[in-house]
Amino acid sequence: MQVIIVPNKEEMGKRAAALIAEQMRAKPQFVLGLATGSTPLPLYQELIRMNKAGELDFSTAITFNLDEYVGLPPTHDQSYRCFMNVNLFDHININKAATHVPDGMAPDPDVSCEAYECMIEDIGGIDCQVLGIGSNGHIAFNEPGSSLASRTRVVKLTKSTIKDNSRFFARTEDVPTRAISMGIGTVLEAEGIVLLAYGANKADAVAKALEGPVTVSVPASALQLHPRVHWIIAEDAASKLRLEWER
Ligand code: GLP
Repeated sequence: MQVIIVPNKEEMGKRAAALIAEQMRAKPQFVLGLATGSTPLPLYQELIRMNKAGELDFSTAITFNLDEYVGLPPTHDQSYRCFMNVNLFDHININKAATHVPDGMAPDPDVSCEAYECMIEDIGGIDCQVLGIGSNGHIAFNEPGSSLASRTRVVKLTKSTIKDNSRFFARTEDVPTRAISMGIGTVLEAEGIVLLAYGANKADAVAKALEGPVTVSVPASALQLHPRVHWIIAEDAASKLRLEWER
């Protein structure tokens, strides 16, 4: 486990992009796991810059996103498919057919979750999974209480996550109450993981996940069990850490 504390979110994005770019250049057909939310935006901006500058090629990359709201079509401006197109895929030379986001409109979500797991397995697994962290310690949409062995499935969102995410919707009632999410077990199978965090509202979750016990109450604490995790944390989100980490 490597914890890197950086001054701000811009630096967080640059450090993460440099790390991912190095791995991508070493492996054609790189399988990148992607996350949504405000946290990875500085990373995506840097990846776009690198791609436009000719420093990083996405033409053979394959991506899998962590989650999607149940009931939102890909055309909905708050769907995670739309988020990924607008914030990354539309600006880089990636083959859109090689980008995967769980289908929030699947007629049989359970079958679709199983198919998502199979696709990841068939491709040989995720090389690097990008993660944010919820203020309640969730990763993807694995809310507190999720089994550390969980797989891709339909999950119910907690009140705190619905409240956190309501800032993107006109009314809190418009926030979907269910999502399809990769499981914690699925995430732990990635070859490498990069967890990003910035903002004082993440400080508690980061401290509990990194320095507290491994527990279902803090899903991100499961990352302590993974051998290759980089935590790239901005100062404000690192303010409640007690141990001496790299700066
Ligand atoms: C969302 C996503 C997570 C994300 C988290 C934090 O609900 N499902 O993958 O990491 O919440 O979001 P933000 O980065 O906007 O704080």
